[in-house]
Amino acid sequence: MPKSYDMLFASSNTHKYEEAEKILAEFDIELGFFQTELIEIQDDSLSKIASQKALNAYEKCKKPVIIEDDGLFINSLSGFPGPYSSYIFDTIGNNGILKLLGDNRDAQFVAIIAFCDSSNEPTLFESSVAGTISKNIQDGGWGYDPIFIPGKQNKTYAELDNKNKLSHRYESLKKFAIWFNNKLV
Ligand code: IMP
Repeated sequence: MPKSYDMLFASSNTHKYEEAEKILAEFDIELGFFQTELIEIQDDSLSKIASQKALNAYEKCKKPVIIEDDGLFINSLSGFPGPYSSYIFDTIGNNGILKLLGDNRDAQFVAIIAFCDSSNEPTLFESSVAGTISKNIQDGGWGYDPIFIPGKQNKTYAELDNKNKLSHRYESLKKFAIWFNNKLV
């Protein structure tokens, strides 16, 4: 018998799923992986992008599903790359970001989790973690992990053993899990 999951996580990104699965297990939610490319609209608003992605994910899998949309907002760059974080990572990368920065290295990593089911009305859960951008690229991790230092830590996500306890992803998934578990009772 194929395993039946409470919830699917639709994404092309295995790293995001692996982290989300561990985080939601703490809240007794079993998360299956629906590996797929979702339609990602270009917009200034992460919420709009996330809502569209969630609708597209439900359309494809027809099961209760969550998607995630993230953005790295750098203060001295007026929030850039924000909703364009994926494109910027694929073009100029971490090296390119470091070249743009001076003394003010403050940034926020924002995560939106969007849940959709047969109601076709996405519900969104947003959190952000304030931090700084490191001066050098550190080893390990994926994406912006090697340059993002969360909160009061002095290490990047890439170097921390407990990223999953304090990340932007953790905070948004925790909000989602509390809401979802209450919905079931
Ligand atoms: P996306 O558009 O939601 O996939 O995310 C925007 C960009 O942020 C992508 O380049 C992701 O790889 C990156 N990203 C999202 N979450 C993380 C993370 O936890 N660590 C490192 N990079 C991340």
